[in-house]
Amino acid sequence: MSINKTSRRGAVSGIAIALMFSVGASSMVNAEPRKSSTEAMIKYRHLFMETKGNHSQAIKLLVKKKLSYSHIIAHAEALAAMADDMLTLFPAGSMSAKSRALPAIWNDDGTVSAEFIKQTEVMRSEAKKMVEVAQEGNYKKIKKQVGKLAKNGCRGCHTDFRGEESE
Ligand code: HEC
Repeated sequence: MSINKTSRRGAVSGIAIALMFSVGASSMVNAEPRKSSTEAMIKYRHLFMETKGNHSQAIKLLVKKKLSYSHIIAHAEALAAMADDMLTLFPAGSMSAKSRALPAIWNDDGTVSAEFIKQTEVMRSEAKKMVEVAQEGNYKKIKKQVGKLAKNGCRGCHTDFRGEESE
């Protein structure tokens, strides 16, 4: 009798453990794609930012060596187009040890802050001005605009929303 009771209890608690385990396992399965999609977004964000960096470097070289107005226009147009897309790169709380994104990017409800949006608009307008001065075909003016784009369009946002390098 007592042996039976024990074994039944054993079976019940066995099921309970199995249930707990499967609940635990399924929530782990659910958590997995979320974590990896955040990491993928951060990785993509870095590629995206580096691409902007390359467009900027390309413009600097084209100006310095007076290589081509039309290529400057192409890079500046790409930068202007990329400004709005930046807003989709920062889903709520997408921070990690590999990211320098600061919490100030987000409002308390997880939406991107008005100040951050404003910085993307500054970048777009400075890049558009770059297109205009490049269309005028004046390297001196373009050089001035390169400085403005870097200061207002890039550093303005980095100062407030990008933290120190972790590595
Ligand atoms: C609206 C804000 C904003 C603007 C405007 C902006 N950036 Fe950034 N940038 C960031 C943030 C935030 C990070 C850090 C992202 C992270 O580490 O997850 C970053 C990171 C970078 C990185 C480092 C990428 C890496 O691999 O770590 C480069 C390069 C970069 N930005 C270039 C630029 C250039 C060039 C411009 C101007 C044409 C620019 N950014 C404009 C917010 C901005």
